[in-house]
Amino acid sequence: MCGIVGYVGSENAGSFLVDGLRRLEYRGYDSAGVAIFGGTTFSVTRSVGRIDALASQLGTVPPEGTLGLGHTRWATHGPATVENAHPHLGGDGEVALVHNGVIENFQVLKDELIAKGYQFASATDSEVIAHLVAEGLKNTPETSGQPNIRYLTAVQWAISRLRGTYGLAIAFRDRPNFMIAARFGSPLVIGVGKGEYFVASDASPLVGRTDRIVYLADHQIAVLTPEGFSVLHRDQGKVRVDIRPLETESGEASLEGFDHYMLKEIYEQPEALRNAMRGRLDDENATAVFGGLNLTPQQLRTVERIILTGCGTSWHSALVGEYLIEDLARIPVNVEYASELRYRNPPIENNTLVFGITQSGETADTLAALRETKRKGHRALAVCNVVGSSIAQAADGGVYLHAGPEIGVASTKAFTSQCCVLAMLALYFGRLRHLSFESGKSIIEDLRQLPNAVQQALTCNEQVRDVAKKYQNASTVLYLGRQYNFPTALEGALKLKEISYIHAEGYPAAEMKHGPIALVDEETPSVFIIPRGTTYDKVMSNMEEVKARGGPVIALASEDDPQVRAVADDVIAVPQVTEFLQPIVNVVPLQLLSYHIALLRGCDVDKPRNLAKSVTVE
Ligand code: G6P
Repeated sequence: MCGIVGYVGSENAGSFLVDGLRRLEYRGYDSAGVAIFGGTTFSVTRSVGRIDALASQLGTVPPEGTLGLGHTRWATHGPATVENAHPHLGGDGEVALVHNGVIENFQVLKDELIAKGYQFASATDSEVIAHLVAEGLKNTPETSGQPNIRYLTAVQWAISRLRGTYGLAIAFRDRPNFMIAARFGSPLVIGVGKGEYFVASDASPLVGRTDRIVYLADHQIAVLTPEGFSVLHRDQGKVRVDIRPLETESGEASLEGFDHYMLKEIYEQPEALRNAMRGRLDDENATAVFGGLNLTPQQLRTVERIILTGCGTSWHSALVGEYLIEDLARIPVNVEYASELRYRNPPIENNTLVFGITQSGETADTLAALRETKRKGHRALAVCNVVGSSIAQAADGGVYLHAGPEIGVASTKAFTSQCCVLAMLALYFGRLRHLSFESGKSIIEDLRQLPNAVQQALTCNEQVRDVAKKYQNASTVLYLGRQYNFPTALEGALKLKEISYIHAEGYPAAEMKHGPIALVDEETPSVFIIPRGTTYDKVMSNMEEVKARGGPVIALASEDDPQVRAVADDVIAVPQVTEFLQPIVNVVPLQLLSYHIALLRGCDVDKPRNLAKSVTVE
């Protein structure tokens, strides 16, 4: 994964590099480093741990220099050590490089370079690229009058040898005020300033520095100097790129009085839902409207199957989407893990529409799955939060969540916003088919109630904290629900695992009898999601089954439910909404439960161990 930044201009590079890395820290946080070019050599500072550790190592006066590179790492090859932290130097220190991605053939290249006498200081795949560029320089004579060409040729040659993915920023000791950035498979943007240029893995580091951005596409290489920049396709020469205005949404990330981003984002959900729905509910026609699907109603009427694909929490909202679309629009839906779909090669019938569900728009598997389905001639759309992200660009169209930046690694507001968008899509598809005007109106009414219901669900915070205190030392927790609340159970379990490191399993409540019930004992709490609805009585029986075996029960139930109160040890009341929107409300106490348990256990809520917000490797 990792985040990279680069600066070339006339200001001191250090402040942009460190600030930029802080904003990219969600992409990985096991080590970090910067290389600042001071006129004759690179001053490299690297440290294990967070950006704070790097910042304190740099001190109040970072090395001076108007060109620099920075990196925050999520380890793939080699543990989190100073040696493995980026930037890496190539040759005899003539090349400095930061890399986001994975080089699959690095061992072959490394052996080749070692045989040529290159010495490696790290176990990373990235250092190979730095030496490879140095080797390219050795073999490339200077073109008279055009010194940049030699550096460009060396980089082109080096990346032509790579198999894998990369977002790269590269600087050269003997070519001051000059940087090359290259992209394949890992995101990269260029910030266009006045006499200065910025490189970053996403738009967030650019906010406050410039208001113009270029999203590099795969195989593009950017050449940057303080005087200007140009972009080339790896093998086809110069290309014209759009310089776009920078969406300020990318930068609204501050804690605003909350202790953690996760908590802030949980509390932002009512507003995020309003934003997801803004301008999309059409009362006159009792349907939803979307500006970016890039398909006519006639084309959409011919859709016979929908595939929803994603990873992690986004896969869970896809599962909610499956219930929603099948229920409201009567279109068959398959939900696929993107990591499986990309290689599984399932037969996909004509008239199948594929949606990639993703918060970041950068998840490597989701991107690859969408590309694969596009390659086969299917329409691939995205439900995505980050504007201009790789998936937003690769898709044929889609729907933005407008949830604002999500910084906490454990996804919260993106989940509820995704479910809300999928509900609106279900309404839209339904209204193109059998759903009556009246039904459409009533679904719109239900959607409008949602932000207030979520607001009300948030009032359980104190109570959830008490429940968290009681169960904080559990070593396994089961989450059980049926129908719409089965994906909610999966999501509740994932949240707990991610941030508190407690083993948790989400299961369809009735399936519990086929295995997980063996785990039930006095020490293993089960969280039942049991609002009033179709399967209420059945889930009640499952709850009794757990109680009969001495298992503590935490129930998420509708307000005023004496029946549940009579059985469960702890009851958290959630507002009752229509059944198909209930997951959006029910997940809120589960998010809070994992938050409080993680806090009580002293875990780093926003940056849990081993995880990263955006998984840009396979
Ligand atoms: C990572 C994050 C999860 C997220 C998943 C998919 O694992 O830690 O919170 O759900 O990636 O990310 P996406 O950006 O595609 O929704």
